[in-house]
Formats: sequence, structure tokens, C-alpha cells
Amino acid sequence: MDKIAQAKKMAAERAVDFVEDGMTIGLGTGSTSYFAIQRLGERVAEGLRIRAIGTSKRTEELAQAVHIPLITFSDVKELDLAIDGADEVAHDYSLTKGGGGALLREKLVASAARRFLVIVDHTKRVHHLGKFLLPVEVVPFAWELTHYRIEQLGCRATRRRQDNGEPFITDNHNYILDCDFGEIVDPPLLHNALKALPGVVETGLFIDMAYAVIESDGEHVTVEYP
Ligand code: 5RP
Repeated sequence: MDKIAQAKKMAAERAVDFVEDGMTIGLGTGSTSYFAIQRLGERVAEGLRIRAIGTSKRTEELAQAVHIPLITFSDVKELDLAIDGADEVAHDYSLTKGGGGALLREKLVASAARRFLVIVDHTKRVHHLGKFLLPVEVVPFAWELTHYRIEQLGCRATRRRQDNGEPFITDNHNYILDCDFGEIVDPPLLHNALKALPGVVETGLFIDMAYAVIESDGEHVTVEYP
């Protein structure tokens, strides 16, 4: 396992230490969350009783494979904990998410969690967000108009594609526009401007949501509470 993968694993496994018997858990999407799901599966096999909601179909499959019982928001309206990765973590603990295209479900799940644990390797830390292109989920109808209006806000936006060249479709049957705004110095301002556009479903900016940021460089783990 390379150093970055080791860092992701260590951060993820530290987050799983927060999980207690009887909790309801939001399960993130991506390569860091993968390690959390695997570790949770081990603890479930040892007798831990949890119930979980996944942030993507892929995560639901991974959870089912390790026998983590899944529930939905018809069963609960609040989660004890959510554990998820991020693409960037800024100095003010604002986040960019959505590299895996799951940002809408990720934000819904994080917003329902009493404590949202962000798990990252050290390469995800930045001063200001913006090097990682900001994912914005848009409805397919009139997406060209939404694309135009997003670019009018001051970015270059590219509709995400799959490896085969077809448009990437989210679990919610929408498109993702990856937006290059350069350095994002005021994440709430940008988030609000984007959300005001008809056709924008959600942005990958997660602001004031993290309860803890758990980071590893593959040797040490730090836990920060914003
Ligand atoms: C998926 C996400 C992921 O949490 C983010 O892309 C980080 O992924 P990884 O853990 O693979 O680095 O937001 O939509």
C-alpha cells in the first residue's frame, strides 16, 4: 500500500473509533471512506450494532458486502455520526467535495449528522479552496443555460464525463459541472450565488459542517475540532 493510501486508511480507522454501539452512521463515498466501511464491517463482525445510510449506490454496495445494516431517512431523521472524505480542506475548515460525484447525498447525510467527521490524507489541506475544480450538480434540463449562467459568475465549467466519453450521471440522475473559479476566498458567497441559479441542485462547498477533521500523513494521525 502506498503512503497516501496508508494515510487514508489511518484517518478512516481513527474515525471509526468514534463509533459506539447502537449508533446510526452516515457512510461517505470515495477511497478514504472505503477504509472506514471496511473497518466498520470488521467491528460489526465482532458484534458492534449500528445502522447506516450510504451516500451513494457504490457505498451501499460496499456496506452490504460487509454486512452493515442499511436504513433510510424514512427510519430516522438524524444520524449520530457521518464519516466522509473531502477533496480539499481549507484553513477555515470549509471543504470541497464531490470528486466522486456524490456531493448531493453527501451533503444531505452530513447535514443530518450530529457530528460530521472529515477524513483526509495530508495532501488535501490547502489555505484557500479552488485548486480542485468545484463540482456543481445540475439538472439535465436546460443544463446548457445553467452552464452559461455559472460561467457568468466567473469560471470555466466543464461537464464531467465518464471514461467512455458519455456524460457522468449522478445517482440522482443529474449532471456534474466541474468549475474552475481559481482561488475561492469567500466560499459562502460563491455557494449562495450558485444556489440562487435555477437548475443548480447543490454545490460541492461544505461550509461550517465539519465537527472534526481527521488527517493523516501515513505515519501520524491528528484530530482537529473546528
Ligand atoms: C465523493 C467525495 C469524496 O469524499 C472525495 O472525492 C474524496 O475522495 P477520496 O477519499 O477518494 O480522496 O466527495 O463525492
